[in-house]
Formats: sequence, structure tokens, C-alpha cells
Amino acid sequence: MQRKKLIAGNWKMNGLLSDSKKLAQEIATAVKSAKPSCDVLVCPPFVLLTTIKKALRGSKVMLGAQDCSMFEKGAHTGDVSPYQLKDAGCDFVILGHSERRADHKESSALVKAKAEAALNAGLKVIICVGETLAERESGKALEVVEKQVKASLANGANASNTVIAYEPVWAIGTGKTATPQDAEEVHAHIRNVLVQKCSKAIASRMKILYGGSMKPSNAAELLKEPDIDGGLIGGASLKSEDFLEIIRKAN
Ligand code: 13P
Repeated sequence: MQRKKLIAGNWKMNGLLSDSKKLAQEIATAVKSAKPSCDVLVCPPFVLLTTIKKALRGSKVMLGAQDCSMFEKGAHTGDVSPYQLKDAGCDFVILGHSERRADHKESSALVKAKAEAALNAGLKVIICVGETLAERESGKALEVVEKQVKASLANGANASNTVIAYEPVWAIGTGKTATPQDAEEVHAHIRNVLVQKCSKAIASRMKILYGGSMKPSNAAELLKEPDIDGGLIGGASLKSEDFLEIIRKAN
């Protein structure tokens, strides 16, 4: 099954107006002229969304947020509704990132509720899963990831509205990357879990991204694995030349 690759930048809590606008413009301009065969997405912090939306205008680069509320509206101080994200021009929202699971004690059940709210609002979701170093060292990586996938996906998840990102926690921001073989083992396992949880047709079409210290020097070998359908990139998505180089490697 040929799946179109997706290269997504998770800017996390980085950037101020002027440098972020410049970054987005550089990406948009390069994507407009290079017309890569992969899809491209950037996910800035909430307050930058509308500015970045404008900066991306006229290009095919998509816009995403990094989290959303499970509620539509109301008395939820500090939270952002998926309907507000859709209204701001977002195509995607990242949910269940390990930093949110750790910093905000987000459970897979909460991630699932958020995913359902986001799908109802007309957004696509990227559901993040991944094991810690202790879990990997005790041989539990596949089991942990399987549990997270089963418990975090929305009812109604399909290949057009849901993307999974496998992000081993020990590889995020550490410079340590999973070997292509280790990553592929987990990706292939996730695809088998999707066969059981959804269907064979959905499992064969759903994109599974790798995230965790992906950079120009290791992107090509990761992206050539059969079940790695793109990348969710943190640090290297903050420099246009690095991000654009990864996009080139995905072609
Ligand atoms: P790094 O690419 O900085 O390791 O971050 C990965 C990540 O967490 C993307 O969501």
C-alpha cells in the first residue's frame, strides 16, 4: 500500500511573532516552488496560529495546533476548543504528546475524548504514543504502545481523519534516535494493532509517523522503512533549512 508521506513540524513552546512568521514564510516559499510529493504541516503554539495561517497563504503547507480541549465551549479557563482551532484555520491537532502526558498527566482516555471532540469539529488528529526508556529496557515497548493506541484512538478513527505518531520518549529532544529497525518493529506492530482495532483497510491506509530526534542526517534511512510514513519533528523543524532538507528526503 502506497501511503503519501507527511512531514510535520511540532514547534512546541518556541518562537515569537517575528521569527515564527519568517520561518513559516521560508517553508511556504520553498514548498511552493519545490512542490514536494509529501504533505507538509506546521504546528505552532496557539497564539501564533492566525499569524502563521496568513504566512502560509497560497502554499499547500497545512496548519495544526498542539492540543485542544475535549469540550466544545464554556467555562474552561485557559483551554482552547477544537472549534476555535478549526475557525482559526487549523487542519490538524496533535493530541497525547508525551510532554502533555507527562506535564499534565493526560491519560489515554482523555486523549480519546479530545480526539473525538476534534473529529466532531472537523479537524484531523495526530495521536502520539511511545514508551519511556525504562519501559523499553524492560522489554515492554510493544505492549505499552499497543495499550496507548487501543485506548487513545477515537471511535470513528479512520485513515482520512487520524494519523498516529510513534515517539519513543527517550528519543525526544535527546539526540538519540531509534534505529530504523527498532522504529520499524514498533510501526509494524502498531499497524497490526490497527487491523484488530479498526479494519485491515483502515490499517493499510493510516499514516504512522516517527518522532524523536529526526533530522536531515537520519531522516532518509528512517523514512525508507515500509511502515514509516513520515515524521513529527521537534527541534529540526525550527530551522527552515533542516526542515526543508527532511522534506526533500521524504520524496
Ligand atoms: P525532537 O525532534 O526535538 O526530538 O522532538 C520530537 C517531538 O517530540 C515531536 O513531537
